[in-house]
Amino acid sequence: MAAVLQLLLLFAVSNLCSAVHHKDAPFLHKKFPPYFMWGTATASYQIEGAWNVSGKGESIWDKFSHAGVIHNQDTGDVACDSYNKYKEDVQLMKEMGVTHYRFSIAWTRIFPTGKADSYNAAGMQYYKDLVAELKNNSIIPMATLYHWDLPQQLEDVGGWLNDTVIEHYRDYADRVFSELGDDVKLWLTFNEPFVTCWLGYGIAVHAPGKYEKPGVDPYICAHNIIRSHAKAWHTYDDKYRESQRGKISITLDADWKEPKTNSSADRAAAERAEQFKLGWFAHPIYKNGDYPKVMKEFVAKKSKAQGLPVSRLPQFTEAEKCMIKGTYDFFGLNHYTTQYVADKEDSSYVSYDKDQDIDVTVDPNWASSGSSWLKVVPWGLRSLLNWIKYEYNNPDLYVTENGVSDKNGTLNDTFRINFYNGYINNVLKAIDDGCNVKGYTAWSLLDNFEWRQGYSEKFGLHYVDFDDPDRPRETKDSAKWFKKLINTNGWEELKDASSPKYHPDGRLVFG
Ligand code: GAL
Repeated sequence: MAAVLQLLLLFAVSNLCSAVHHKDAPFLHKKFPPYFMWGTATASYQIEGAWNVSGKGESIWDKFSHAGVIHNQDTGDVACDSYNKYKEDVQLMKEMGVTHYRFSIAWTRIFPTGKADSYNAAGMQYYKDLVAELKNNSIIPMATLYHWDLPQQLEDVGGWLNDTVIEHYRDYADRVFSELGDDVKLWLTFNEPFVTCWLGYGIAVHAPGKYEKPGVDPYICAHNIIRSHAKAWHTYDDKYRESQRGKISITLDADWKEPKTNSSADRAAAERAEQFKLGWFAHPIYKNGDYPKVMKEFVAKKSKAQGLPVSRLPQFTEAEKCMIKGTYDFFGLNHYTTQYVADKEDSSYVSYDKDQDIDVTVDPNWASSGSSWLKVVPWGLRSLLNWIKYEYNNPDLYVTENGVSDKNGTLNDTFRINFYNGYINNVLKAIDDGCNVKGYTAWSLLDNFEWRQGYSEKFGLHYVDFDDPDRPRETKDSAKWFKKLINTNGWEELKDASSPKYHPDGRLVFG
């Protein structure tokens, strides 16, 4: 009898434990698994500069920024001048002890017009040199083929809305694999296609600045990007995998969507919001070759209410579904923040965001950052990683971006250290939960061109002086902290009462 009671008690206690909300879980003083990879990330347009050098063609971001629409009329013409200073950048990474560097390749350096017949060897050479420099310093390259800088000449004929872009992208990927693939073993086809399609073709905040049909164009853009991704993946799989033995996937951005209340309507709304954002791309690739069921239902319902004969969400053919399903070797995840989501019917106008019938808010108690959209919510990353584990059958996963901005670029960036401490600790907790997280990549190596916000929002582990033509770099405290974290591979276990202790949000607490 006593044994039965003990068992019951144990069961009750373990249930209580699992009921602890992620936000209340204590800091985990523990190391990462020995294989864990630590890196930093950048993107071509944000750091390279040299926008028209050595045969490079014009991209949509060159054109967009030259139109004067960026904060302070900033452009990426010089940016961090990494085109010339890449060796210095590699030394900054070497000093931190990172295992890998995630960078992106500018399509317009390789094919200035976007098309294969415009091949530019000088542009390819820049990346060959960068990759060689990384190799000489024992840093593993992780290359993104597309981080938003579409060749302008392809945009002139419709860009991601014209499905002829698929073959041009495939040709570009093929050429890059063939020339860099002996040394690059980790590939990402696209960075955050959600941003390309919604910010670029839905609300015009990003290049190419289109907003004519926000209830149609973002869906067409995504449809073409998903098919382009699948073509590039198969090209690698068919032509290069056997000899080059690398891995290739896509990087998707996702916020954690926390239900505003525990009502079933709000829980369904939060799930729907995650499916509309992450599932839009992840469901076809990681599940069944098709869009999430709830997304198909909602867009169809809204389209019908408009009197349209067919849904605004395009359909994949059966052959396309087969081509798309399973085109991944791991899950690439960019994550920054969390929102509350409540159910709210909304048919005020026709757009991708109104199709979802949701209301999105944030908690006023969450710490702010230098970016209005980025609230500091470390536990959201653990919740998201667990959601991905269940939804997509626990794929190997790399966090390919995570980081925080400020406005002043201070070198004593304790705020950023707290952010990383809190978020990275939640990656560790997720690994303890059984999530197959294999690596973490901090955004960003350098302060850089933060898209629409120009140089006013700084995410760097290193400060860059954009007023100095030499663009000197300076190490921030966060880079020194990151070096220690990498060296320890996490946190030492608590040995006695005097060991440093952390609040779940990453702040060091005393006593
Ligand atoms: C990501 C993007 C990066 C960087 C970061 C911070 O969405 O991939 O290029 O800008 O956000 O906003």
